[in-house]
Amino acid sequence: MAGTRTLTIIKPDAFGAHKAGRILAHLEGQGFTLKAARVMHMTTEQAGKFYEVHAERGFFGELVEFMTSGPCMPMVLEKADAVAELRTAIGATDPADAAEGTVRKLFAESKGRNAIHASDSDENAAVETAFFFPELA
Ligand code: RTP
Ligand code: MG
Repeated sequence: MAGTRTLTIIKPDAFGAHKAGRILAHLEGQGFTLKAARVMHMTTEQAGKFYEVHAERGFFGELVEFMTSGPCMPMVLEKADAVAELRTAIGATDPADAAEGTVRKLFAESKGRNAIHASDSDENAAVETAFFFPELA
């Protein structure tokens, strides 16, 4: 395998604004290789399960509502040190704090509507990949 893999989601704000192609092109330009992709509209149950680590947080309801507000695009990306590389490439959670040239700086509107998700560890990348792409697990 040419590197390691991570899981990303182009969130409903960016997908609905027809930014999916530009975001993927941006990431491919940084050396990520697309290994799997799908378009889906998450149910409340799916979004709640995916972000269950945040279930006790005050923003959880808003997060689930947003993630179920329209179609999104989960993808598996491959690169050397993919998890850390993609976290750097997407930028800080709040686009106002994101570094220049990051996906969130370029494409996100706000902390709640921040265009993209990326796994935060190899362990979570494996769990999240299995969630959307059981055939790859
Ligand atoms: P993600 O999981 O989506 O890649 O985002 P992240 O790691 O950068 O941030 P995380 O702490 O995991 O939070 C998940 C998502 O919840 C929303 N959030 N809102 N209102 C708030 O204070 C707040 N904090 C987090 C964000 O949309 C974030 O992406
Ligand atoms: Mg996170």
